Amino acid sequence: MKLGRSPLLLSGHLLLCLTAIWVLATADLAAGQRPGCPAKCGDVDITFPFGIGDECALHSGFGLTCNTVNGTTKPLAGTIEVTKISVRESKAWMSTWVSSQCYFPSNGTNYLNAWLNLNDTPFWISEVDNAIIVIGCNTLAYMTSSSYVIGCSATCTDVTLENGICSGAGCCQADVPKDISYYRGYFNENYNTTNIWQDSPCSYIVVMEKAAFSFNTSYVKSTVFYDTYQDIVPIVLNWQIRPWSCEVARKNMSSYACISKDSECVDITHVKEKGYR
Ligand SMILES: *[C@@H]1O[C@H](CO)[C@@H](O)[C@H](O)[C@H]1NC(C)=O
Ligand SMILES: *[C@@H]1O[C@H](CO)[C@@H](O)[C@H](O)[C@H]1NC(C)=O
Ligand SMILES: *[C@@H]1O[C@H](CO)[C@@H](O)[C@H](O)[C@H]1NC(C)=O
Ligand SMILES: *[C@@H]1O[C@H](CO)[C@@H](O)[C@H](O)[C@H]1NC(C)=O
Ligand SMILES: *[C@@H]1O[C@H](CO)[C@@H](O)[C@H](O)[C@H]1NC(C)=O
Repeated sequence: MKLGRSPLLLSGHLLLCLTAIWVLATADLAAGQRPGCPAKCGDVDITFPFGIGDECALHSGFGLTCNTVNGTTKPLAGTIEVTKISVRESKAWMSTWVSSQCYFPSNGTNYLNAWLNLNDTPFWISEVDNAIIVIGCNTLAYMTSSSYVIGCSATCTDVTLENGICSGAGCCQADVPKDISYYRGYFNENYNTTNIWQDSPCSYIVVMEKAAFSFNTSYVKSTVFYDTYQDIVPIVLNWQIRPWSCEVARKNMSSYACISKDSECVDITHVKEKGYR
C-alpha cells in the first residue's frame, strides 16, 4: 500500500510491497484473533483476517504494525494509520492526506499533490462512504484515477457561503467512482489565489469519509481545514479476501478465513476479481 504527497512533480516514496503469503489458519478464532495475537493496538480492535504482524494475519496484505510514537499507540498498514476495522461490513478506516494549493507572498503558489495507491492490496476506496471534496474561492481541482479524471470547481464570487453546504460556494463535492484503487489530487493552475490571497490563501482537494466532513466557511479564509485534518483525513476502504468465492474457498480449510463458529461467508467481487468477506 502506498500513500504519498509530493511537492510538484517529485515522486513520492514507495512504502510497502505486498505479496500474498498464505499461512495456515489453524486457530480457534472465537475471540477474533489467532492465539497469542493482540486483540487491540492502542484504541483500535484488531480482528482476523487482520493481525499485528503477518503471522497474526491471514496473509501479509492484512498484516499491520503497532507503533508507539510520543506515547500514542496506533496500528499502521505500511505507513498508513488504521483507525477502525469492521469485519462485518468488510471495511477499514484509514488516514490519508490533503492536496493543497497555497499562495505565499514570499514564494508564490505552492502545490502539494497527495496520492493513494491500493493496487495489489485487499483494499479499494468505498464509493458509498467517501466523497471528492474541493475547497477554495477560485479553484478547479481534479481527482484522477487509472480510468477517470473528475473535476470539481469552487468559487466565492457572487455566492453566499454557508456552513454545512457544499455545492459550489467555497466548496464542491463529487461522487467517487466505483472500484477505485488509486487516486491522485491536483489543481488547474489557471485557477489560483494570486489575486485573492489576503482573503483566501489556499485551496484543497481530498477524498474522504462524507460523514466526517462538514463545510465551515472559515475553511476558505484560512488554513483551518488543513490545520484540523492535516495528515489525518479519514477515508473508508472496502476489502475482500481473494481470489476465491465462498464456495471455492470453503473447499480448502487450511486457507479458508471464516473459521470462527460465529462467522458467515459472503461473496463479493471487486472489479473482475472474485473474493469474499
Ligand atoms: C514528539 O513530541 C516532541 C515534543 O512534543 C515533538 O517535538 C516531536 O515532533 C514529536 N514527534 C512526533 C513524531 O510526533
Ligand atoms: C513558501 O513560503 C511558505 C511561508 O513562508 C513556507 O511555509 C513554504 O515552505 C515555502 N515554500 C517553499 C517551496 O519554499
Ligand atoms: C494564476 O492564474 C492566472 C489567471 O488564470 C494566470 O495568468 C497565472 O499564470 C496563474 N499563476 C500561476 C502561478 O499559476
Ligand atoms: C467553524 O470554524 C470556526 C473556526 O474554526 C469555529 O469557531 C466554528 O465553531 C465553526 N462552525 C461550525 C458551524 O462548525
Ligand atoms: C490449500 O491452502 C494451502 C494454504 O494456502 C495451500 O498450501 C494448499 O496448496 C491448498 N490446497 C489446495 C488443494 O488447493
